[in-house]
Amino acid sequence: MKIAPSILSADFAHLARDIETVQAAGADLLHVDVMDGHFVPNLTFGPSMVAAIRPVTSLPLDVHLMVSDPEAWLPAFAKAGADKLLIHAEATQNLYHAVQLAQSLGVQAGVVVNPGTSLTVIEEVLPIVDQVLVMTVNPGFGGQAFLPAMADKVARLAAMRQAHDWHFAIEVDGGINDQTISSVKAAGADIFVAGSFVFTQGEPEAQMTKLRQAK
Ligand code: DX5
Ligand code: ZN
Repeated sequence: MKIAPSILSADFAHLARDIETVQAAGADLLHVDVMDGHFVPNLTFGPSMVAAIRPVTSLPLDVHLMVSDPEAWLPAFAKAGADKLLIHAEATQNLYHAVQLAQSLGVQAGVVVNPGTSLTVIEEVLPIVDQVLVMTVNPGFGGQAFLPAMADKVARLAAMRQAHDWHFAIEVDGGINDQTISSVKAAGADIFVAGSFVFTQGEPEAQMTKLRQAK
């Protein structure tokens, strides 16, 4: 299993310190939540934040693009140092093209499905994607409650992956803690994003240990 702390819940005034803390504690990736105030009702970071983070960590940057017109932003985030660009299926009319474009920029490409979006919407890109992010909350804010029904969605996606011998990683994001992680882990998820649980509910190192040890 891989843990991807979300800096959305870090202390923005001490961001480098918080990133160093989770890296030292064994984080596998760093999750960066980009929100444009349009695709979701909240506003966070742009490419300049990714560029600022890049030199302070060796962790891969997992950039979650909660933006309208993601294709327009892919080159800037790739140039800024993103390792993975995660594109919402709901945000583009041409998901296949968006995935191809991201990969042509030399980064890994992932697709994201909101809780209300069917897996059938991403079926045609599954053979080419590096990662699928199954949202386990409605996107926009940290600290929301995990949606238990999403574990079945992860299980169906994992079964499709196995049936076709596809190799994308399955990531879950939203409301992940040492209790809710169990169902999505059992369902076949590989990467677990956690924001508030890691940064605001205890010492990050201890919180990450709880996630790894959760049954
Ligand atoms: C929500 C974001 C998440 C968020 C998760 O829209 O995509 O990455 O940071 O925060 P928690 O873990 O607090 O639900
Ligand atoms: Zn996210």
